[in-house]
Amino acid sequence: KPLVFSGVQPTGNLHLGNYLGAIRKFVALQETHDCIYCVVDLHSITAQLVHDDLVEQTRSITAAFLASGIDPKKHIVFNQSRVPQHAELAWIFNCVARIGWMNRMTQFKDKAGKDRENASLGLLAYPSLMAADILVYRATHVPVGDDQKQHLELTRDIAAKFNNDFSARIASLGLGVEMEMGEETVNGFFPLTEPLIEGPATRVMSLRDGSKKMSKSDPSDLSRINLTDDADTISKKIRKAKTDPEPLPSELDGLKERPEAENLVGIYAALSERSREDVIAEFGGQQFSAFKPALADLAVDRLAPIAAEMRRISADRAFVDSVLRDGGERAGAKAEATMKGVREIIGLLAD
Ligand code: TYM
Repeated sequence: KPLVFSGVQPTGNLHLGNYLGAIRKFVALQETHDCIYCVVDLHSITAQLVHDDLVEQTRSITAAFLASGIDPKKHIVFNQSRVPQHAELAWIFNCVARIGWMNRMTQFKDKAGKDRENASLGLLAYPSLMAADILVYRATHVPVGDDQKQHLELTRDIAAKFNNDFSARIASLGLGVEMEMGEETVNGFFPLTEPLIEGPATRVMSLRDGSKKMSKSDPSDLSRINLTDDADTISKKIRKAKTDPEPLPSELDGLKERPEAENLVGIYAALSERSREDVIAEFGGQQFSAFKPALADLAVDRLAPIAAEMRRISADRAFVDSVLRDGGERAGAKAEATMKGVREIIGLLAD
């Protein structure tokens, strides 16, 4: 049965990239799938152990989920650390995955920087915990932005190696389902999860530099639109967004080699739920002095209600905490069912 899982780290402000690349898709998938959405607090301590406001950030991401339209009754919303089975499965995956696989992760190389020997072991093992998040529910589909693609490939590699290394035990315990793996059929316990990376905004770029992705950690606040920005701030940031001097092209092809223009057109398309072709058909030939105000109006129109709803929900801290507690209980029951199987397959002594 298809099951969606995804996670967002509680570090820094949520921005338009998080919204268009991920959260908005979380909302849409609720119509067709059972969904589990997680605030991944254990991931946020991999880069920096001590956070003053981890609790507040966790609540704030939860409020953003709810304000965007995620229904915590029909689906599950919780914070990762409440369900210790994530960390338990991550440990087992640390023993399945190879150090070389982790060393090849571009996000690790970026985040660790030059002094790799001094990065936390958690930062290196980050993708193992991410695979555990997904596979502890045996989720089949994971909506994410383009930057998470490599991590999802690794998740499939871990699932495939586990299925393969334990295929005989999985079959003899009757815990598997038959799965095609290239030439052979294996008795798989974990599904080979599919990433969902689609649409015009899988990689929203910085408003100040079309070659860098929009990110929580960019020192310039002008580089991103935060979900909590007010209307004036949103308009100002779009007005100041870097562009080239040419008008918008009349064909989609004309956006090649024009990363800033391409980014703004992609944002417009995503916010208006139209294709980039459509946007070019409407605005092709126009100057940015005409396109930017239209984009600013659209962005304010779509984001302001979410910001207002976030403020309203955040004010009721007891409600937010109760959503996470309830979600954690329901997630925990599912995760424990998977872990019973995993412990048996591995051969750990348990009752
Ligand atoms: P995080 O917290 O950095 O980002 C949350 C989601 O936002 C997407 N995203 C973007 N999409 C488009 N353009 C951008 N500029 C942009 N920046 C961020 C991310 O791709 C992500 O979907 N490792 C994950 C969290 C995680 C997770 C998981 C995700 C932990 N476990 C299991 C899926 C499944 C991360 O750091 O996302």
